[in-house]
Order: sequence, then C-alpha cells, then structure tokens
Amino acid sequence: MAENRHVTLKLEGVSKSFAKVEADEVTHALDNVSVTMESGEFISLVGPSGCGKSTILRLVTALIPPTAGKVTVNGEEVTEPSPNRGMVFQKPTLFPWLTVEKNIGFSLQVQGKLKENQHKVDRMLKVIGLESFRNDYPAQLSGGMAQRVALARTLISEPEILTLDEPLGALDAFTRMNMQDEILDIWKERKQLALMVTHDVDEAIYMGTRVLVMDANPGRIVADIKIPDAYPRDRSSESFVKYRNEILNKLHFGGKHEE
Ligand SMILES: Nc1ncnc2c1ncn2[C@@H]1O[C@H](COP(=O)(O)OP(=O)(O)OP(=O)(O)O)[C@@H](O)[C@H]1O
Ligand SMILES: [Mg+2]
Repeated sequence: MAENRHVTLKLEGVSKSFAKVEADEVTHALDNVSVTMESGEFISLVGPSGCGKSTILRLVTALIPPTAGKVTVNGEEVTEPSPNRGMVFQKPTLFPWLTVEKNIGFSLQVQGKLKENQHKVDRMLKVIGLESFRNDYPAQLSGGMAQRVALARTLISEPEILTLDEPLGALDAFTRMNMQDEILDIWKERKQLALMVTHDVDEAIYMGTRVLVMDANPGRIVADIKIPDAYPRDRSSESFVKYRNEILNKLHFGGKHEE
C-alpha cells in the first residue's frame, strides 16, 4: 500500500452534547476541546469513565458529528467515515459468519486485493498469536482473542489515523503486555498517528509519545503530557514513575503529600 501521507488532525473548539432520554437534560460529553495531533505521535487518552474518550474517537472517525466546533485532517473537515481512519472498538465487532482469517482479510477482500496480500493476513495471524485459530469462528474465541482479531482487522488496512478504544481491555496481564509491544512494533514501521484510549495509566505511559488526561462533567482535556523517552520503556525507571505520579495527580489519585 502507498506510504502514509503526513497528517495533522485538529479538534477546534469541539463540543458534543447528547440529549438524555429522560427530562430536558443534556450530557456535555465534550466541552470546547481543542487539540492538534500529527503523524508520528502515539497518543494515549486516559480519564474517568464517561469523560468523553470514546466520543473523541467517534468524532475523529466521523461516526458522529460535533455539536459545535470542527474536526479537520490537513485542514479539511472530517464529515464521513473513511478507511484512512481505522477504529478498533471498545466492544469487538467481528463478522460472526466469517472465520478468523476471513475477518482479518475482510477489507482486502472487499477491495479485491486479498490474493496479493495474503502474506499480510498470515503476518497478522502470527502477530496476534492465533495462527492455529485461523479457521475458527468468532463464537469459538475467548473475549481476549476476539479483541486481538478486531485489532488485526483494523491494522491490516494500514489507516493513516489509527484509533483504538481500549484495544487491550479484555486481555489478561501477560497477553496484554505482549500485545503492547506488538502494537508498538507495528506502529513503529509506519508511525501513523495513533490515538488510543486506555484505563491503564502504566499502559498509557509505556506506549504513548504523549498522554492526554481528561476529566468529566463536562468532558475536557486537563493535561497534555509529552513522553519523549525512547522505547522500550522501563516501567520502574525514575522518569516512568515521575510520569505516573503526575498523571495520577491529575486524575485525583495522587498520594496525600503530592498535591
Ligand atoms: N449515543 C449517546 N447518547 C447519549 N449519551 C451518550 C451517547 N454516547 C455517549 N454519551 C454520554 O457521553 C458521555 C461520554 O461518553 P463516552 O462514551 O465518550 O465516555 P468514555 O470516556 O469513553 O467512558 P468509558 O471509559 O466508560 O468508556 C457519557 O456521559 C455518556 O453517557
Ligand atoms: Mg469509552
């Protein structure tokens, strides 16, 4: 596939409100969020449940429109979904009638490019450790396996913006740490803009070149922390611990003496 072009993704004064089913209330999922991100960045989004993390990803992939403000890629407003902006959803969504292998190759199949790209499917199966499950169906997989297939299915289309909504949430701790390295290895090949939501502060620091910390009511970004440290990162290093404390403080989980 062609080299990724350099992209600059901007959220400019973006607000998103949702009407509540009951009463005349609205939820301010996001309030006046402005942020610029570019190719080469791996951005981790952390924050409490309901602070608008998934909403940001859904705006970037144009699954929903903003209530105010705009989302642009290289100056052009984002108005509809595109394979250039791939998403791995919080709940894995696989085609139940297709095998693991066919799920992963689906986008290539649709484009009529599966045959010459079969090696990519094979590589993805290897990366996610499911070569021996290639002919199984989604219903036969554990939650963590299904999530890995969903990840492979998005990665294979090499989107220029990769959005990941808690892609490793259903995995056990060991698989999770391995997958963090695998995702980083794949990302390092192309350094496309990656935007990943996670609940895990250590994962955010281990993987991100930058961490956006959010808070709720209304949803907003409260800190934007660059992590220039080289990969692979040492979870017990002095700088790692410093970032962890800084982020936990922003999330109001700092120690008593750190305020
Ligand atoms: N389609 C919708 N209709 C109504 N309210 C919504 C809708 N989508 C999101 N919301 C509300 O917007 C807020 C932000 O939701 P969002 O899913 O972005 O949170 P989140 O940070 O991803 O949370 P979590 O960590 O639990 O996944 C929440 O209060 C949620 O109830
Ligand atoms: Mg979410």
